[in-house]
Parts: sequence; C-alpha cells; structure tokens
Amino acid sequence: MKLLFMGPPGAGKGTQARRIAEKYGIPQLSTGDMLRAAVKAGSEIGLKAKAVMESGGLVSDEIVIGIIAARTLEPDCAGGFLLDGFPRTVAQAEALDRMLKERGHAIDHVVDLAADNEALVQRITGRSTCAGCGEGYHREFKKPRQADVCDQCGGQLVQRADDNEETVRNRLSAYQQQTAPLIDYYRRQGNLKSVDGMLPMDQVFSAICAILG
Ligand code: AP5
Repeated sequence: MKLLFMGPPGAGKGTQARRIAEKYGIPQLSTGDMLRAAVKAGSEIGLKAKAVMESGGLVSDEIVIGIIAARTLEPDCAGGFLLDGFPRTVAQAEALDRMLKERGHAIDHVVDLAADNEALVQRITGRSTCAGCGEGYHREFKKPRQADVCDQCGGQLVQRADDNEETVRNRLSAYQQQTAPLIDYYRRQGNLKSVDGMLPMDQVFSAICAILG
C-alpha cells in the first residue's frame, strides 16, 4: 500500500503516520524527519536545509525529490510506504507522479488532514518530541507520564528549533501558498480523502483506518 498524508503544520500528519505505518507494516517516510537528521549530521544537504527550516520556508524541490527518489528504492519500501509531508509543491507532486509511473506504481490513497490555524499554532508551540524514538507529545493534549521523559523508550523530550510562534506563522503561510494547491491537484486525480484533524487523536485514527480499509 502506498499512502500520502498531507495537511498544514501541526494537523497531526506525524502522529497519525506513526500509528498507520505500524498498523499496516510499512515505513513512514517523513521528509521533515529526514531533513532534521541531515541537519544534525551536518551533511551537505543538512547545511543547505538548516536556515530554510529555521525560518519556516520550504527546502528546495531538487533536494527533497532526490531524497524521496532514493529512499523509496530501499528494500523496506518494496511492500509500500507512507509519505508524510511530501510532496509540498506542485513540482514535487509532478516529480512523484513521474517517478512512480516509471516504476509502474501509483499512490493508493491521499489523506488530507484539515485543522484551523489557531489550533495549529497551539498544537505546535506545545509539542515536544522524544530525542530517542521520535514519539510526539503535547503539554495539554498528550502528556508524558513523567515530565520530559518519553513513555515509550525513556528518552528525553525536546522541542524542535522551528516550533516557535513566529516560525509557525511562516510555515502556515508557506503551506497556504505552496502546498494547499495540492488539494485540487489530488482531487482532480480522484484519490483524495479529507479527514477532520480537529477531532480527538483516536477518532482521527479511526477515520483514516475506515478510508484505508
Ligand atoms: P515537517 O517536519 O514535515 O513539519 P510540518 O509539516 O510543519 O508538520 P509538523 O511535523 O509540524 O506537524 P504534523 O502535522 O506532523 O503534526 P503532529 O502530528 O506532530 O517539516 C519541517 C520543515 O522541513 C518544513 O517547514 C520545511 O522547511 C522542511 N520540509 C519538510 N518536508 C519538505 C518538503 N517536502 N519540501 C520542502 N521542505 C520540506 O502534531 C502536532 C502536535 O499536535 C503534537 O504535539 C501532537 O501531539 C498534537 N496533536 C496531533 N493530533 C492532535 C489532535 N487530533 N488533537 C490534539 N492534538 C493533536
């Protein structure tokens, strides 16, 4: 199964992608996670991406398309994958379509998570993530049992460098200008399903599972 999750920053793509990827036994391919790993490693891609990510803009199409083209050829993607946060521009979507067509593949479901802007700011500024396993938390909506410690692996919870209010507003604006047009792009292809991302997390999960069958 090949899945694509889209939606504005904070809509819950990562939260749901982790659970869905586990349920269906496919890897979660988050371009955001891959770029953060590149920044941490200080690689050439990381050096190019760091300032753009910290400002809330989008990393170049060329870089993210290259990352996904290579990652989807790895053996764990043979049975499918879940794209989380890619594509984010029409150029990325067209490149993905071309790449999959050349390989004789296609996306089975595009899930769009919708949520309102003020809720997104509140979610992102209250978010923390485990430095060890990547599990996400929220100071109101998903508290860890022990402050700043991951329930799953005992790792330390940290805040992302781009999770401050100013950067979040820039990310929302980048989403409106460059990513929202993809809703029509996939609607025209006939495989877009919208899910209300304002529902409680378990209800969002159930709604996605009902779509995927
Ligand atoms: P990326 O890491 O993809 O960030 P994003 O799209 O801004 O999305 P987030 O991770 O912030 O939000 P999410 O939707 O995953 O929400 P989450 O589940 O964590 O990208 C970061 C940067 O990398 C970009 O700005 C860009 O610079 C670059 N980049 C990445 N991909 C790129 C691409 N393809 N092209 C160019 N540049 C790219 O949830 C958020 C919080 O809300 C959590 O605390 C969670 O617990 C809580 N929450 C989730 N669901 C609910 C719910 N239903 N109710 C209440 N709380 C909830």
